[in-house]
This record gives sequence, C-alpha cells and structure tokens, in this order.
Amino acid sequence: MHHMVSANRLATRKFLEGPTMVSRIIPVDPFDLVIFGGTGDLARRKILPGLFRRFVDGQMPDEARIIGAARSELDTKAFRRHIGDALEEFVPAARRDKKHVASFLERLDYVQIDATGTDGWTALAKLVRTDLVRAYYFSVGPSLFGALAERLHEHGIAGRNCRIVVEKPFGHDLASARELNHTLAQYFDEDQIYRIDHYLGKETVQNLMAVRFGNVLFEPLWNAQYIDHVQITVAETVGIGGRGDYYDKAGAMRDMVQNHLMQLLCLTAMEPPARFEPDAVRDEKLKVIRALQAVEPTDLVRGQYDAGAESPSYREEAENPDSTTESFIAMKLDIANWRWNGTPFYLRTGKRMRGRLSEIVVRFKEPPHSIFDEDAGTNANELTIRLQPNEGMDLRVTIKEPGPGGMRLIEVPLDMTFADALGQDDDDVPDAYERLIMDVIRGNQTLFMRGDEVEAAWAWTDPIIEGWTKRGDAPKLYEPGTAGPEEALMLLHRDGRRWRDVKP
Ligand code: BG6
Repeated sequence: MHHMVSANRLATRKFLEGPTMVSRIIPVDPFDLVIFGGTGDLARRKILPGLFRRFVDGQMPDEARIIGAARSELDTKAFRRHIGDALEEFVPAARRDKKHVASFLERLDYVQIDATGTDGWTALAKLVRTDLVRAYYFSVGPSLFGALAERLHEHGIAGRNCRIVVEKPFGHDLASARELNHTLAQYFDEDQIYRIDHYLGKETVQNLMAVRFGNVLFEPLWNAQYIDHVQITVAETVGIGGRGDYYDKAGAMRDMVQNHLMQLLCLTAMEPPARFEPDAVRDEKLKVIRALQAVEPTDLVRGQYDAGAESPSYREEAENPDSTTESFIAMKLDIANWRWNGTPFYLRTGKRMRGRLSEIVVRFKEPPHSIFDEDAGTNANELTIRLQPNEGMDLRVTIKEPGPGGMRLIEVPLDMTFADALGQDDDDVPDAYERLIMDVIRGNQTLFMRGDEVEAAWAWTDPIIEGWTKRGDAPKLYEPGTAGPEEALMLLHRDGRRWRDVKP
C-alpha cells in the first residue's frame, strides 16, 4: 500500500515538474500600487508579505512599485525598515532570503498623507505613473473611502486604467452598504472596484469550482435528489483579542456569515456559470443569495464564549459587561430553488472553539436500496472540502471490509490532501491575498464581490439580526475549547444528523 502511494506521488511530481509548471508564473504588467493605510496591520500582516512572495516567484516585474500612504510621519527609508520588520515577522525564515528582501524593499516608496485634507497629495500625484496600471488599496475605514476617491480625481491620478481595492466590513447593514456603493460609483465604474473577501482567494475555495466543473463525477449528483445536506464550518480557536471595539458591534453574523460563509455557500450551491468569468460567476452567486429563505428563530443558535481556566470571557475581552453580541452562530438554511428544495445547508462559525477548522461537508444520501444483509451496514458518501488546516479534499466511499466473515461495509477516504498529492508543503500554498492582489493588477474580478451581491447579502442578513434584536434574545454561553453551545448540536440532532467533529 505504502509503495503504491509513493509511486503515485512520484508520478504526480513528474507530471507537475514538466515544463508547464515553471512557465506558469507569468509576470503581470508593470504597475503602481498605492496602499492607503500602508503602515497598518493588514498591510504588514497580509498585503506586503503577499506581494513579497509574488516578487520572489518572479511575478512582479522590475518596474513595479508599491507606495505606502499613511498619516504616520515616516520617510521612505523608515517605511522600508518598517516593512522589513513586518516581513521578518510574517514570512517564514526559509522563504526570506536577504537579497530578495533588499531588492523587494527598493520597490517601496512612502508618502505621508492626510486623507481628508490636502497634505501629501501633490507629492503622491507626482510619484504615481499615470501611463501604467494603478491600483489604490483602501486599507482604511470606510468613512474615508469618499474622501480618498475624491482626491484621487482632483489630482488627476484616477482615470480608466486605475482600480480601487476595498476591504470588509463593506457596511454594517443594507443601507450603509448601499451608501458606500453609491459613494464609490460617483467616482469609479463597477469594473474598477475590487471588493475583497479573502475567502475567495483561498486555494481550496477555487478548487471547489475546479472539482465541481472540471469533472463529470460530481455535478450530476449535485442536487437535492442525491445530497442529504451540506455543512459549512469555520471554527477558530482565537478570541476577539484587541478587536473588541469593532467586533462587539459586528458579531459573528456580520463578521463572518454575511461575507465569508455566504461566499462558501454560494460557490457550493450555484448553478454552473457558462464561463469562468467575473459576471458569469457573480450572476450565479447572486441568484443563490436571492433564493435564500428567511431563517426561523428555531433554526438559529447564537453563542458567546464564557471564561475558561486560562482565558477571559467574551465580555471581558470586549470590555462590555452587558454585551449580547454573538461570538458563535449556527443556523439551518433553505435555498428555495429546484436544485436544493429539501436539502438544508447548516452553517456555523465561532471563536474560541476546540480547533481551527474551515470545511465544507457535502453529505450524500444513502443508496436507494441495499442489496446486502442488514448487518452489513449502510454508508453514505461524503465529500469534504477542507480550507484549513491541511488544505485538500476527501471523498468517503463505501467498500467491503477486507478479509473473511462475509460482507461488511466500511467507509474509506479517497484522500486528496494537496500537500500529499502535489508534493507541496504547507508553506507552498499561497496566501489568499497574494492571488487576489495579482488579480487586481491583471484586471480580473472573478474572485471579487460585485456591488449588488454585497447588497443582496445584507438584504438577507438584516431581518435576521432585526429579529433577534426585537425578541431580545441573549446568546447562550459556551465553554471555550468546545464546539459551541449544546443547542447548536441539537440543530442537527433533531433532524437525525450530526456535525462533523471539531478536532483540536
Ligand atoms: C476576518 C474576520 O475577516 O476573517 C476575523 O474579521 C476572522 O474575525 C478572519 O478571524 C478569519 O480568516 P482566516 O483566513 O484566518 O480564516
């Protein structure tokens, strides 16, 4: 058995090491990327480490430049040092060769800027090359979007070949999201606006589309006739840490469900788009959101983590002793269309849970008739798409338990952990941001959210939040290091189903 696996792996490697593997990294066109909020947390943690990796891989052309723009009183030299430290902190040492770092940092510039005033704008306008692709990353609060957009125009550095990138939270309800869309639309066309949901940049999420639409095996079965239910779990072990200010106003519903889990749901449930192109894909996702039914209070469980032996309670961390914000949420959803009528989707996400696990589980129905004795047992197929950790998929199939003793059925996994199948180690898997930023430069919006999509997601979210606010529902306390409140387990038990374990 072992022998077979390694022979297999060798074959995969050989195949991948062919000439196509090397030439697959195509440098993007020269660009100027301006990061507003360039000294901030996201820039340090994700954006610049991601760009560094693309640079090391040879995807960033020599002429490309990255300009940090922020309030901090820094010059270019100090900014480079600041980002050098960030790379040290967030890029594994083995991937951080000194020469690469030095030459990457040379591509960085800095402009001290006042987003709502006049300071720094003339300097920025001088620096930016208007004959190239320009991307402006708004890594700042949404209240500054309008001011930034206006000034980019005033100083003549907007224009058709520029793009803007905006982060979540994209509003906190439908009205505020509409307002943001309206503000941005005054200055940019929709095809210039890149709304990031970093879950769409995760390798496995893209793989979900490859598996669904690159094989004949799954799509014919991908409907209510053959699928019993779908589970989507995003469990985290971390608490809210220092983000209490933001999080206590948002909660798990706004922070995770309205965007990340919604995107996973859409890609799992959508009809096959005619092409893997931005509007074709986004049209299909939008239809899913619009087909979502309102959630009954009995199909919804909210939780809040309690204090543990070594960890503070949610309320302590949020510094709000009366907070009724949820740090966990689970729900049962119905999608009212032909494909999914009768197949529920169960969603859950929470902080301070037993393990860090993001996965989509597609549970198929049992065969309609068993030809075997009752004591042979029955099994149903299950496809798991694992976003993290150990990105990959596994498909559980039923086989005969080997050996004498008659026919006994057991389930075995057809395991497609990418690390094993493709000879990659965990560090090889690109971070979501790397892919997404390169897509911005390439002008490909497929993995970004369209304005109407975000609004539809809020239109579904708002009444659910209004519902529990009106009813005055308090979240159930749960012990940290668990799978959330007991009631969340019951959500499936009462339907004769069970959640997959959240393992440490
Ligand atoms: C962010 C949320 O969007 O996603 C965080 O604001 C959450 O609360 C994070 O922790 C999870 O992202 P990932 O990539 O670690 O699963």
